[in-house]
Amino acid sequence: MSEEKLIRLDMGKLDGDTHKTSDKPILCLGIESSCDETSAAIVDSDRNILSHIIYSQIPEHQKYGGVVPELAARAHILAIDEVIKQTLEKAGKTINDIDVIAATAGPGLIGGVLVGWLAATGLAQSTNKPLVAVNHLEGHALVPRLHASIANGEDGVNSVEFPYLLMLASGGHCQILLVRGVGQYELIGQTLDDSAGEAFDKIAKMLGLGYPGGPVVDKRASLGNPKAFNFPRPLCDKPGCDFSFSGIKTAARTFLEKASAPYSDEFINDFCASFQAAVVDCIVNRLNNAMHDERVISAAPKTLVVAGGVAKNSAIRASMEKLAAEKNMQFAAPPMNLCTDNGAMIAWAGLENYRLGKIVKEPVAPRPRWPLTEL
Ligand code: KG4
Ligand code: ZN
Repeated sequence: MSEEKLIRLDMGKLDGDTHKTSDKPILCLGIESSCDETSAAIVDSDRNILSHIIYSQIPEHQKYGGVVPELAARAHILAIDEVIKQTLEKAGKTINDIDVIAATAGPGLIGGVLVGWLAATGLAQSTNKPLVAVNHLEGHALVPRLHASIANGEDGVNSVEFPYLLMLASGGHCQILLVRGVGQYELIGQTLDDSAGEAFDKIAKMLGLGYPGGPVVDKRASLGNPKAFNFPRPLCDKPGCDFSFSGIKTAARTFLEKASAPYSDEFINDFCASFQAAVVDCIVNRLNNAMHDERVISAAPKTLVVAGGVAKNSAIRASMEKLAAEKNMQFAAPPMNLCTDNGAMIAWAGLENYRLGKIVKEPVAPRPRWPLTEL
């Protein structure tokens, strides 16, 4: 049935398409449940987000200082039906209006992934609709093609086209990727220990600023002196594009052992500003090296892109935009609500995969680990 459906439902216009054969946009229902957000969205192939519901579990995990997988899985079970129902209602659609269903099938906390994936599978089977198994990281990686603000672009250019150089920084991952196309990712560099998001979260925890750490550290950093503490810039004196954040974390602990709590507001602001400056320097240094990587030079990407939850960071966005300008590249970043986990990025990645015929043809086992290079 899926193959037939695929032929009948021709995709509307997407980047690179010159032959639009159907005027009716394709509607995709996307479902995300891999961490602490239960989210669903309906996105069409003309890049409209018809509805988008994000139910954040953050308040439920805050008292534990991080996501508790078992609690997250239970919270997804309680929320998923209502989130999908509201998403359809808000768009003024019924499930019969949906052309394709997509859900995160990994990587992530497996209990949560299972909840969203099984809900999507049940819906697709009971309604005879095509189903796409979306890699969560591919959701982050492709969402700038749905919506992004673009800097340094040529006049009239407002979309992100392949190939592009991507800084993917989230709570679970920190990678530099050459994105050649849907499902075509080349790993240029990655963290050897913590992800960038984890580093933000851990620093916030040390300072007693709560969870998640990124937003609050970002805010406090804007009020502080980035030169107050001399954090290390791990690996920046070495060639290559890999990251390491554990040395920054150890330095943070050492600084804090020398100071005594409770810390003043000024101390916290300076500490956050100095920590963030170190992370920014590492990102710029590694991206600069990535631009000299032979694979990147020969692919000649026109756009430098940031995605993932950490892409919300104001200093990281600003410094990457500056780097892109120096290298005569465009810079693209998704809007804030599409950086952290959300259903719209899964719906969009679902549409992009559907367009290439990448639909589920036999049962799929969700994966806690699923590198982008294994697509
Ligand atoms: O992509 P995401 O929602 O979840 C994963 O797939 O992991 O990313 C969440 C991460 C958290 O570590 C959070 O602290 C970080 O994104 N984050 C930020 C900011 N907002 C969220 N990090 C730095 N600055 C921010 N403004
Ligand atoms: Zn994510």
